[in-house]
Amino acid sequence: MKTHFRNAMCGEIDASADGKVVKLSGWTDSRRDLGGVIFIDLRDRSGMVQLVINEEYAGSFFAEAEKVRSEYVLCIEGTVRKRDPENVNSKMATGEMEVLVTKLTILDTANTPPIYVEDDDQSGESVRLKYRYLDLRKPKNQKILMTRAKVASIVRNYLNDEGFCEIETPILGKPTPEGARDFLVPSRIQKGRFFGLPQSPQLFKQILMISGMDRYYQLAKCFRDEDLRQDRQPEFTQIDMEMSFVTKDDIMPIMEGMITKVFKEIRGIDLNPPFIRMTYKEAMDRYGSDKPDTRFGMELQDLSDILKDSEFKVFSGAIKKGGSVRAIIAKDAQGKLSKKTIKHLEKFVQIYKAKGLAWIDVKEEGMKSPILKFISEDEKQAIYDRMGAENGDMIFMVADTDEIACVALGQLRLELAKRLEFDLSGKFNFLWVIDFPLLEYDAETGTYKAMHHPFTAPLTEDLPMLETEPQKVRSDAYDMVVNGVELGGGSIRIHNQDIQERMFAALGMSMETAWRQFGFLLEALKYGTPPHGGLAFGFDRLIMMLLDLDNIRDVIAFPKIQNHSCLMTSAPAPAELDALIDLGISIDDEIV
Ligand code: AMO
Ligand code: AMP
Repeated sequence: MKTHFRNAMCGEIDASADGKVVKLSGWTDSRRDLGGVIFIDLRDRSGMVQLVINEEYAGSFFAEAEKVRSEYVLCIEGTVRKRDPENVNSKMATGEMEVLVTKLTILDTANTPPIYVEDDDQSGESVRLKYRYLDLRKPKNQKILMTRAKVASIVRNYLNDEGFCEIETPILGKPTPEGARDFLVPSRIQKGRFFGLPQSPQLFKQILMISGMDRYYQLAKCFRDEDLRQDRQPEFTQIDMEMSFVTKDDIMPIMEGMITKVFKEIRGIDLNPPFIRMTYKEAMDRYGSDKPDTRFGMELQDLSDILKDSEFKVFSGAIKKGGSVRAIIAKDAQGKLSKKTIKHLEKFVQIYKAKGLAWIDVKEEGMKSPILKFISEDEKQAIYDRMGAENGDMIFMVADTDEIACVALGQLRLELAKRLEFDLSGKFNFLWVIDFPLLEYDAETGTYKAMHHPFTAPLTEDLPMLETEPQKVRSDAYDMVVNGVELGGGSIRIHNQDIQERMFAALGMSMETAWRQFGFLLEALKYGTPPHGGLAFGFDRLIMMLLDLDNIRDVIAFPKIQNHSCLMTSAPAPAELDALIDLGISIDDEIV
């Protein structure tokens, strides 16, 4: 990256440069003054190299070198030389070499940085994000952003080769109810009206299929006004795609190919597609999750047939009400979970609405359990056989509706893997989850809502049940899951007006409401729509996965914190009164 200020990069100075005259520019990582000789580690994006400024050879610039402090920006010229063997620094990529400086210019000075610009800096996240430009100077963070750019480039090349066309869709869109809340942008020209920032380009990409673009993609910014979590941001990036004249069997191999290429080029890992496909029902039954972490077993078992007549009314009662008793076994866990931990686990399952957690210590001399007196000898034996129990294991059971029992144990399974410190590093277990329910029942409102979005096609064979047993209808949707994380999701879309209208009816949405909200799509569907489908990957999540990071903020250059603030710019900020007047907006003092 030669420029006026340099003819080489700091991190690239190796033995082949021995004896060469170089011109380098960068930041002062550290400076050591040994009296008569000053060492400076100079850093740029490529890495770091040691500079030597020797009073004997240095002219007037020795005094300059004495002024240099951390993070000063320098431009130097000098001769590369091998270090004496005893001075070789094996921790530094350029540690065999150094540059004997013959010219030094301070391009800019710097205040003392409020954080250490080094990988093992322990500063709190709030100070790091406030001074994000210093945080981003750290080699590890530069690597993250460069990896992110590289993945974007691999993805683009792959999709271009597969015939996809990159098309931008509007950021100022129409507010539409998708899953989350919209961010609204007031219109100045049309006071009282609002744009909605896209939660995803979903409707536009479908319209691009109606437009005949055949294969679309975009690295799309999406905006969702929702509560943040470890892997959620209010603005994030999707690798968004849509294809025409396809079934899911056309789409899935192309997506597997893309992810496989990324993992190979970035991590050198072979993923060996095709990935296994698991139905939603199987995922819930075996793992209690629609994004199962299959890196370890501890699968859920149904004990309902064994316990349906149990003396323990909590169990038999739940089964009689149509629910079940489900269980997991933690092999060899006895003694590894303290009483206090078990108490905590009992509380933990309550987060997922379970009313209680029963457990059994499997012991040679007989079991130990708070529900001991309720379990007959036969039941005990049948449970042991079903669970494959051996001395030293622990069994955990939840009795409830199927859904609560499965979800609570699915979460407990993940919690136990953490507490028992399972070694899951280096494993990437990819799979597809398919055949999701089309609709989700909302007990509060007594209505159904779309599990994915209202344009997802029902499975053809389930279509006749749409009016009679809507909860049983499965959709032609698919999620790509890795290690318990939903990396991407999509579906085959409804491309026929009649089915789309039946879907709105199933959602309890009048055609009038549907037309008000999605009229432009419904109108477009009338003019010749190809069968189409697509999906979107969480680009930020993909980078997290590739770099083994568990905080989404680490993979975004300028992320937001829990309360949606950007600590560096102090966004969101109050608006000027004039701007508000222009927009026809007044702020109620009581709410701010
Ligand atoms: P979905 O809502 O499942 O589908 O989103 C697709 C993927 O985007 C990622 N993701 C997020 N990443 C970071 N922060 C968030 N707040 C966030 N929300 C979602 C996830 C998820 O798998 N239009 C459909 C796709 C389609 O049907 O083609 C959609 O947006 O990794
Ligand atoms: P109790 O009869 O409420 O004192 O509960 C006895 C044991 O059964 C305790 O260990 C509870 O945690 C457990 N328990 C209670 N309700 C359930 C449930 N729905 N599923 C599993 N275990 C339960």
